Amino acid sequence: MTEHTTGPVVTAGALRPRRLRRTPALRRLVAENRVTASDLVLPLFVKESLDAPSPLTSMPGVDQHTLDSVRRAAAAAVEAGVGGLMLFGIPAVRDARGSAADDPDGILNRTLAVLRADLGAGTVLMADLCLDEFTDHGHCGVLTTDGTVDNDATLLRYQQMALAQAAAGADLLGTSGMMDGQVGAVRAALDDSGDVDTGIFAYAAKYASSFYGPFREAVDSALQGDRRTYQQNPANRTEAMREIALDIAEGADLIMVKPAMSYLDIVADAAAVADVPVAAYQVSGEYSMIEAAGAHGWIDRDRAIVETVTSIKRAGAQIILTYWATELATRLLPGTSH
Ligand code: PBG
Repeated sequence: MTEHTTGPVVTAGALRPRRLRRTPALRRLVAENRVTASDLVLPLFVKESLDAPSPLTSMPGVDQHTLDSVRRAAAAAVEAGVGGLMLFGIPAVRDARGSAADDPDGILNRTLAVLRADLGAGTVLMADLCLDEFTDHGHCGVLTTDGTVDNDATLLRYQQMALAQAAAGADLLGTSGMMDGQVGAVRAALDDSGDVDTGIFAYAAKYASSFYGPFREAVDSALQGDRRTYQQNPANRTEAMREIALDIAEGADLIMVKPAMSYLDIVADAAAVADVPVAAYQVSGEYSMIEAAGAHGWIDRDRAIVETVTSIKRAGAQIILTYWATELATRLLPGTSH
């Protein structure tokens, strides 16, 4: 015995968790979660009126693409092993009903067709199925005469969009508008057209979040006001379970929680109850905050990126949408050591 008589004395080996943290090799061996390239989905913005890619001020490193440049970005992501692509289109002309959304020659549907031809079945192609990028008022649906979003009239537009996106080659349709009944309506439209293969990636628990701020620049959003009559209140947790249960009952093939970082409790709840794959979307504001703080030298950007995506996976998301998908796959994940 030594002379130590004061303070706690750790004796039993089992009481020493630090033993497994001693070297990078030990830490790697016992890591409970690990993000791989195929878990990741890269969101991409394609803007019809551009003749060169246009960098986003509020999302350094992210561009609005032309049809040409999106092909290169998509090919790079696929080459890096990223699991899939989520496409957003920004049309040259907007109107109250979002006519460009279901036009086969509209920018989103053309992009889907071009990427499908380029990439074959080599990646999972997904598209945002929502009207906000296409309407002149910027809401996710069509409006009644008093200016509120008309749920059931919007469902008809979503059905038309679904058929157009499926025809253009989407594997999965990202129903992101938070209209009641949207998953059932889209499934019925696909089934009625004889399409049993195209799946629905339901933004099931989607919150009215300030973290979508930079996305407004990314899609040149025309929105005045907010989406609080259709997206969820950040105060609510139980309600997310109701939204998820409804979407699964209506035929969702995968579900998503959005945003990710402030909603990891919802991700964990979703993973506990859902019998379909669960995804989380690390949204524009989450990206911009880390880029901005990293650029100031206030946080270690690379470590923060890996830490956040790992946390999202740890919470229970099997799939993560992130604007860093290609960089993670090519540079950050292979080099990960803790
Ligand atoms: C709706 C949609 C939005 C995002 C994805 N799909 C905007 C919104 O709901 O207001 C946000 C994504 C992000 O912020 O990165 N079309």
